[in-house]
Amino acid sequence: MNHDPEYRRLFGELFPEVAGGKPIDFTMFGLAIAEFELTLTFANAPIDRFARGQRDAMTDSEKRGALLFFGRARCVTCHAVAGDANEMFTDVKNRVVGVPQVAPYFGVGTGNMIFDGPGQDEDFGLEQVTGNRADRYKFRTAPLRNLAVAPAFFHNGAFTRLEDAIRHHLDVDESARHYNPVAAGVALDLTHRLGPIEPVLGRLDRKLRNPIELNRTEFSDLVAFVRDGLLDERARREHLCKLVPRSVPSGSPVLQFQGCP
Ligand code: HEC
Repeated sequence: MNHDPEYRRLFGELFPEVAGGKPIDFTMFGLAIAEFELTLTFANAPIDRFARGQRDAMTDSEKRGALLFFGRARCVTCHAVAGDANEMFTDVKNRVVGVPQVAPYFGVGTGNMIFDGPGQDEDFGLEQVTGNRADRYKFRTAPLRNLAVAPAFFHNGAFTRLEDAIRHHLDVDESARHYNPVAAGVALDLTHRLGPIEPVLGRLDRKLRNPIELNRTEFSDLVAFVRDGLLDERARREHLCKLVPRSVPSGSPVLQFQGCP
């Protein structure tokens, strides 16, 4: 990298030390990547414009959905916006929400992660990090922005439709016990093996133990809020694909992204 004049020129534009002759170092990579990642936080959605006083930024359906989200459907009790949540719709806590345990067909040794449990078809979640049994099956509350462009939901992608991911929360026992990976639309290699769900449900977060009843209109309002009310148009593929360089100074092959031309 330090031998390549083009990298030195590019880093020199950002780091005066490099322009002055010092080597590019690891910290600079970290800073540059972190700066780039920050530009990928797209948080100017209809709800943000509405909150700034633009009354017509949200549709009536999105507004009704928001009232459910912050009210009777209790989503905000985990998908928080205030304080540390920094308007990202997560309390940044780890919780058991009863997500079905999909595991790859050939399991042992072939995936890119170690599976837990006697059948090696489970994911112990936070316990893997802390070693504390009380943390078993806990996963961090996901931020909810820009899900309209997400291909799959939950830490393991157990659902491929946003509606299903939302419905799961409304009656976790029902959703988890009747989970069918084929119907959920996951990739074929994830449709053959399911880890046990009862031990997961036995630890379900108390906030989700009582099902929440919504009629069809309420449900579609809630979906409209999460899908459209929280979407910043800049998160769309057309915009993101433009950020992928066609080539890099080293001449190394660049990554190809699914869905980018
Ligand atoms: C008990 C806390 C809790 C409550 C209440 C809750 N959620 Fe969640 N939610 C989570 C956690 C934790 C995850 C991530 C789970 C995982 O990755 O396995 C999540 C994930 C999601 C996802 C998937 C996001 C993604 O990127 O994969 C959606 C959508 C979602 N929640 C919507 C809702 C809605 C809508 C409500 C209200 C009906 C709600 N949640 C209520 C904790 C909660």
